[in-house]
Amino acid sequence: MAKRFFILLSVALAVLSLALAGCESLKRAEPIVPVKEYEKMIAGRFDANYVGTGNCLKACHFHDKIRQDFEASTMGAQMSGRTGMPIVDCESCHGPGSLAIEGLTEEGVKADAREGKQTECDYDTFIDIENLPAPALSLICLKCHTANATFNLHNWNAGSHAVNDVSCSDCHKVHAGPDLVVKPRDTFQMCYGCHLDVKAEFSLPNHHPVPEGKITCVDCHDTHSTTEDELLRMDSIKATCTQCHAEKEGPFVFEHAGQTEECISCHHQHGSVNSYMLVQSEPFLCLQCHTGHPHNTGVTFDAEQKAASYTRCTDCHTSIHGTDIPSPGGGGRFIQ
Ligand code: HEC
Ligand code: HEC
Ligand code: HEC
Ligand code: HEC
Ligand code: HEC
Ligand code: HEC
Ligand code: HEC
Ligand code: HEC
Ligand code: HEC
Repeated sequence: MAKRFFILLSVALAVLSLALAGCESLKRAEPIVPVKEYEKMIAGRFDANYVGTGNCLKACHFHDKIRQDFEASTMGAQMSGRTGMPIVDCESCHGPGSLAIEGLTEEGVKADAREGKQTECDYDTFIDIENLPAPALSLICLKCHTANATFNLHNWNAGSHAVNDVSCSDCHKVHAGPDLVVKPRDTFQMCYGCHLDVKAEFSLPNHHPVPEGKITCVDCHDTHSTTEDELLRMDSIKATCTQCHAEKEGPFVFEHAGQTEECISCHHQHGSVNSYMLVQSEPFLCLQCHTGHPHNTGVTFDAEQKAASYTRCTDCHTSIHGTDIPSPGGGGRFIQ
């Protein structure tokens, strides 16, 4: 009995030690990317220290314009350190700079100046911003712009911009000037840069007055992403449209079935060749879903009306979005 127990025990121990050996080999597995390399992508060289913008740029005039613009921006204004905000300076994004200026001496800088030369620092020791993959480049910004600090970035990671490798600095050009935020009225120009198909839609004869500056892309879209499809700010198409076209909201006694929910079953959201930005001209628009007249409506039409009823349906069905007034036949035919 006892012998059998010991055999069982030793088998169990053997299995256990094999399993543990498995774990051991897991522990020894080589990482896909050495963790240091990964961290370095967004944090910079670990053997370097922060030296402060003053020291970085003391003898450097290459970057005068960049510095002036940056100090004039809202973000740069935080550099004073008196604001209680996280310190933002050149090194916050470019990585610690001590190695870059390591070899530089007062005498060397003066000697260069005498020869009319600008002393250069060692750029290679900074984060390789130009070659970072988009998600890593955005992480540099997200170090400070957490969802708590910049509220509308809550859904950033799930949005189609982040998912499709668009980074923060594709839209916010940190060094293009002191103004880091794209002014709503200027957004369309910036968006056109990537969305050529949308640009084409807004140049059709009938379009929402975005190029005219009356409304903006960001009235309807949240470019930082939302939980809605197509980056819409509102939670449905109808809600998007009735922000401004409130009179179409209803509810009406006679609704145009579920159609008014989906304004875009009849209208293009950006622009179209047809009047009122209709996706098709009348009567074809209506004939997609209805058969033409005359039907058995209990109403008689003369010859002229018969012809008319195949041209512009809304000549008679004037309240096409819905109405509270019944038609003569007692139904909701949207004729007034
Ligand atoms: C908020 C992050 C951020 C800060 C702070 C920042 N930069 Fe940059 N910098 C970038 C990014 C991103 C790029 C890549 C090019 C671009 O998107 O403009 C860049 C590019 C550069 C370049 C090379 C490209 C060019 O425009 O010539 C230089 C030089 C530069 N930065 C210097 C500085 C200096 C000097 C400071 C401090 C006054 C500074 N940066 C602060 C993010 C930053
Ligand atoms: C070290 C922290 C830090 C980093 C890194 C950082 N920011 Fe900022 N940023 C701030 C602070 C602080 C402000 C000012 C307060 C605010 O608007 O939230 C600011 C403001 C901004 C603003 C608004 C400016 C305005 O006029 O209202 C934009 C846009 C912006 N940052 C973009 C970026 C981008 C793009 C990056 C990455 C390339 C970045 N930031 C990286 C801290 C940072
Ligand atoms: C597709 C273009 C686009 C991208 C990508 C983008 N932004 Fe913006 N951002 C805008 C526009 C447009 C505005 C101003 C209009 C608005 O509020 O929607 C803005 C506003 C801001 C503001 C100032 C207003 C506020 O909400 O506080 C900050 C800060 C900001 N963005 C940071 C970022 C950061 C950080 C990232 C990357 C994680 C980023 N943005 C990515 C277009 C973009
Ligand atoms: C740097 C290029 C770039 C810029 C600038 C840019 N976008 Fe985009 N955008 C993309 C890419 C890439 C996608 C994903 C692929 C696609 O749907 O075209 C996308 C997707 C979208 C979508 C969602 C489409 C979907 O199917 O979910 C909307 C809406 C949108 N962008 C609006 C805007 C607006 C508004 C602006 C200006 C504030 C803007 N974008 C600026 C590149 C850009
Ligand atoms: C009046 C509101 C409104 C305005 C203004 C607007 N959009 Fe849209 N956009 C929409 C709606 C609604 C959809 C979704 C259509 C759908 O679900 O089929 C959409 C879809 C999109 C899409 C994805 C599908 C497509 O058409 O390619 C992109 C990209 C886009 N918009 C970019 C932009 C840009 C860029 C601007 C500014 C130049 C802009 N939008 C202005 C309402 C608007
Ligand atoms: C931010 C406000 C705003 C939003 C949101 C908006 N519109 Fe408009 N819409 C306008 C303005 C402004 C005009 C131009 C009116 C004018 O020129 O008299 C317009 C014009 C129109 C027209 C053409 C009217 C005409 O007389 O030619 C139609 C149709 C229309 N919008 C439908 C929609 C639909 C569908 C949506 C939702 C996808 C929508 N709108 C969302 C502001 C808006
Ligand atoms: C069944 C098709 C259909 C649907 C759905 C529809 N519309 Fe229309 N809409 C039209 C037609 C057709 C016209 C042109 C009316 C005319 O010729 O008198 C029009 C005209 C308009 C106009 C300009 C003239 C006016 O009456 O102010 C606006 C704005 C408008 N629609 C907004 C909307 C909005 C917002 C929605 C969604 C809530 C919507 N439409 C849904 C067919 C539709
Ligand atoms: C995308 C499909 C669609 C389009 C486009 C459309 N409708 Fe409709 N329409 C419907 C549906 C669905 C109903 C509800 C059907 C029902 O109750 O029998 C309806 C109901 C109606 C009714 C009331 C019918 C009844 O029996 O009460 C009239 C009148 C009407 N539509 C006219 C039009 C006109 C005119 C147009 C063009 C401007 C149009 N519709 C475009 C889908 C559409
Ligand atoms: C000359 C005026 C006129 C024109 C044009 C017209 N209709 Fe009508 N339509 C009416 C009248 C009147 C009724 C019946 C109203 C009632 O029930 O009291 C009606 C009823 C309808 C109905 C309800 C049908 C049913 O069987 O009860 C539909 C659907 C409809 N029209 C669609 C259309 C479409 C689609 C067009 C364009 C191809 C169109 N109408 C053009 C006047 C017109």
